[in-house]
Amino acid sequence: MGIRNILTDKEPALHKVCKPVRSFDSRLHKLLDDMKDTLLEANGVGLAAPQVGILRRVVIVDTGEEMLELINPELVETDGEQVGPEGCLSVPGRYGLVKRPYYAKVRAQDRFGDWFEAEGEELIGRCFCHELDHLDGILYTQVMERFLTEEELAADE
Ligand code: NI
Repeated sequence: MGIRNILTDKEPALHKVCKPVRSFDSRLHKLLDDMKDTLLEANGVGLAAPQVGILRRVVIVDTGEEMLELINPELVETDGEQVGPEGCLSVPGRYGLVKRPYYAKVRAQDRFGDWFEAEGEELIGRCFCHELDHLDGILYTQVMERFLTEEELAADE
């Protein structure tokens, strides 16, 4: 188990453009394993490497069926639109109203460098877009319409 510390949005690392991964080595595998442990522990849907202070293009998404490892991911297709509440482990306790595509398809490399595609709708489509934004230093708070109010959050529970 390797739980890493999740940075909050005041940290400069969260606002930088991450570099591509070039070495698919044991150091990358350790990062991926630690990020999965950290995401499970934090009860989140997705986690990007800059959130644990590593400025590389690495994302984990928990689809509910599997923990997807996305290395050097690119958005290759989107469709539709959804507007809904969105949160981030780096912005604890707050939620915003964010417009995203309803469907998203990504192309990425696995931990051995092989390319594959993954797609998702609703929460997973939203999560792909949110996590890929992290790799370019963009937080949802920069693209949201507004924060949800306490009343709206209470009504959601
Ligand atoms: Ni996030």
